[in-house]
Amino acid sequence: MSEAPKKLYIKTYGCQMNVYDSERMAEAMGGQGYEQVDSPEGADMILLNTCHIREKAAEKVYSELGRYKGLKAANPDLKIGVAGCVAQAEGAEIMRRQPLVDLVVGPQSYHRLPELERQTRGGGKAMDTDFPEEMKFDHLPSRPKPRRGPTAFLTVQEGCDKFCAFCVVPYTRGAEVSRPVSRILREAEGLVEQGVREITLLGQNVNAYHGEEAGHSWGLARLIRRLAEVDGLERIRFTTSHPNDMEDDLIAAHGDCAKLMPYLHLPVQSGSDRILKRMNRSHTAEHYLRLVERIREARPDILMSGDFIVGFPEETEADFQATLDLVEEVTYGQCYSFKYSARPGTPAAERPLVDPDEADDRLRRLQDLLTRQQRSVQDAMVGREVGVLFEKAGRLDGQMVGKSDHLHAVHVACDLPVGTLARVRIVESGPNSLAGVLI
Ligand code: 5AD
Ligand code: SF4
Repeated sequence: MSEAPKKLYIKTYGCQMNVYDSERMAEAMGGQGYEQVDSPEGADMILLNTCHIREKAAEKVYSELGRYKGLKAANPDLKIGVAGCVAQAEGAEIMRRQPLVDLVVGPQSYHRLPELERQTRGGGKAMDTDFPEEMKFDHLPSRPKPRRGPTAFLTVQEGCDKFCAFCVVPYTRGAEVSRPVSRILREAEGLVEQGVREITLLGQNVNAYHGEEAGHSWGLARLIRRLAEVDGLERIRFTTSHPNDMEDDLIAAHGDCAKLMPYLHLPVQSGSDRILKRMNRSHTAEHYLRLVERIREARPDILMSGDFIVGFPEETEADFQATLDLVEEVTYGQCYSFKYSARPGTPAAERPLVDPDEADDRLRRLQDLLTRQQRSVQDAMVGREVGVLFEKAGRLDGQMVGKSDHLHAVHVACDLPVGTLARVRIVESGPNSLAGVLI
């Protein structure tokens, strides 16, 4: 008789790459008899896949760990592990600060998770936050486990060499590395066989992708064009990009590759050249604006998305105004904005902070503007025809919900199965989603 499966609970914080990594961790532990569950109660192993990008993100991890005290008291065999970028950045410090933690594993070492779990049996502690010579990509299964749902993430590149002055990613995720083309194709084909219709290519600097195939270097555009030849794959997206790596061929692909969706996440962080320089962004506001102009020439209906940091050290009201001006000029359909958070070990962490009330006020003003833009871009979809890929049943009977080409959530009264890509006319714009009718 086989043993009952052990229960694994994974809580994921932060970016989409963590979502992808959590799936891989579940697969690795699946091979050890663990089955993923939706709640920490009764679990045999709890893994927090953490984010270190802002201070709040890291603090959340410690408060979550504190909540597991009772569970550990009730079940001393419960294993608690911390993975992700907090694990990478803080290492053994996590175990000192929170003795409940049995295991710490950095993003480059997830393939070692089963071995680390074995080390913790009998009360031991285990840790791996090395950047191994051998690539963790080499250990990723190229045939992922069966999955539900028509959309999937696929990591093609990891790490970053840009060293923006505020950012921990080059330290937690390491230097930029690309996965080989053949591996990506095999994984994509495997996903499509399992019913996936849309793939989002992931990388901290995804448009710096430079894979190899038969001795030739492939950029992201070439990879996208090749993936577009995979039968049954209907939609391709990618995130996150850096303005300096937005090459001509990638811009062109937005115009001539029908499966590449009209949505681009292209963070600029600030509209002030003075601040961009201090951020070590190595591009100007003008460079970014011209880039957006060229992308819109290639794909006029593209929905622009971005990231902003306000209250970066030494940001003046005039610098902030330049950010508002840039936002006015671009018009974003979706945007993320953050108050600057000093991250230990990054160059900007040493610099004097902007008055926190002033920074809060700027964040509020920026978010007001971005929310208005998001709203007007969404409202302007009314009357238009778009593709919608159905992902699940809606809240109301006889209703399906999916994402439009522009990544808006759309409700449609119909009973088409999950995974159908339908043509829809948008008839209404609500607070967080659109409503449409089948054409
Ligand atoms: N403080 C605030 N926001 C940050 N980001 C990255 N580092 C910091 C920081 N130290 C934001 C950037 C980035 C996004 C993922 O998070 O805008 O694009
Ligand atoms: Fe961080 Fe992105 Fe800058 Fe790299 S390009 S350092 S990931 S903000």
